[in-house]
Amino acid sequence: MTLPHVKGQMFLGSANDVLSDPIDFLERNVRSHGNTFTFKLGPKKVYFFNAPKDIKKVLTENWDHYEKEKGLKLGLGESLLTSSGPTWLRQKKYTQSFFTRASLNKILTDISLTSTESLKNTLSGKPKVSLQKLSTQVVYDLVLKVLFGVDNFKKLEIVDAINIMTDYVLKRGSSKFPAPFWWPNKNNRTFKQQKNLFFNYIEELTQSSTTKSNDKNLNFYSDVLLKSALEQNEIHRQSLTFFLAGFETTVNALFWTIYLLLKHPEKSQLVKKEALKSQPSEKINDLYKTYPYIKACIEEAMRLYPPSWFRSRVVIKDVDINGVILPKGSLVWVSQYITHRDQNYWSSPEDFMPERFLNETKIVPFSYFPFSFGRHACIGREMAMTELVCIIRDLYQNYDISSSHIEEIKPTASITIRPENDLVLNTAQNKL
Ligand code: HEM
Repeated sequence: MTLPHVKGQMFLGSANDVLSDPIDFLERNVRSHGNTFTFKLGPKKVYFFNAPKDIKKVLTENWDHYEKEKGLKLGLGESLLTSSGPTWLRQKKYTQSFFTRASLNKILTDISLTSTESLKNTLSGKPKVSLQKLSTQVVYDLVLKVLFGVDNFKKLEIVDAINIMTDYVLKRGSSKFPAPFWWPNKNNRTFKQQKNLFFNYIEELTQSSTTKSNDKNLNFYSDVLLKSALEQNEIHRQSLTFFLAGFETTVNALFWTIYLLLKHPEKSQLVKKEALKSQPSEKINDLYKTYPYIKACIEEAMRLYPPSWFRSRVVIKDVDINGVILPKGSLVWVSQYITHRDQNYWSSPEDFMPERFLNETKIVPFSYFPFSFGRHACIGREMAMTELVCIIRDLYQNYDISSSHIEEIKPTASITIRPENDLVLNTAQNKL
């Protein structure tokens, strides 16, 4: 089958267009070529698929025909996020049980308490707060608690290091000619320094979290990494990976959810009403059953602004995607951002309509995949959803938030869909 091909420049292919505005590039080409087309990134041919039946095939079948791209691995080393094949399988075996609903049920009370306490520290006595700061602080506190068993609530000690590392990984991934990782240029040196800073910080945390670890203070570090008899540098790699994977994505999901609620006061009212209900038991099933509208708002925000907005795989053995043969060495792309806003699968796709998630049978299968599907689907999905529902509930239960001027905030596509600007929130203790 001959597919439409996006003509690019000699040698570079479409690299310049993709690097300058990847979303615009994909949107334009879906409009002009339809659901499937190819383009070149330097010497590599990329096959892009947008139809849910093809997304299903790419994400859930023939997993041994693909590998993850190397970009992240150069920075993070072999970790669950970057590895493939037997290494990935070994790592998945020791990490997965911690992130199941049954296991997270044991720490739901901790998650709730951390969310309430963190909001109190961030908002009490502060009539104006930046939305970016609020989202970053609360998610930071929760990630430290769940992954490392630490109550922090002080300052965002390693957020700068995390941001520098994330930007580095992003720039390397999108650079046409990245310097080798061992090359002692400024960027490589800074990245290594920040990584060491992070590891030292984790070492300090370890001291406190190991002594505190017991049945009531389960955390990923003490209960998974330390108990799995791993070498120190594998513990480091997984700590950094899980922190990065769980932090940036969840901060963005929270930012966009609150932003959309501020823009739709009628939906915020429904959230506020629901947030005042009390939950019958500290179980995740009950959390979702008690706050279905809050959950739907988060899901709808991740439809419009999927934190992880595209997936890419390297084809290592020829593979057949519903009649299209992808040769070994090519890349395959699917994009949450593009499919989530496609009018063929969503009615009024640009509108914020959380109600559509109250009846999930109406959603076209494989047209919604913020956490991906298949073998490499997000291991932290339940942790992220639980944290987000608790934060939105606690925020609307205890505070009145508004913004005097809500400008349109544009998304920028980096590793995640980041907001281009920030918003200042007016906050007050809830009078209800
Ligand atoms: C709203 C928040 C989150 C979103 C939208 C998200 C999204 C995703 C997506 C789309 C993938 C698939 C990547 C791929 O196909 O290559 C993924 C994988 C992954 N996520 Fe998340 N994630 C979130 C939160 C978390 C959290 C809280 C953690 C853990 C603390 C986490 C850890 C990981 C890891 C380790 C992988 C690699 C899984 C594998 O390859 O087996 N994520 N995530």
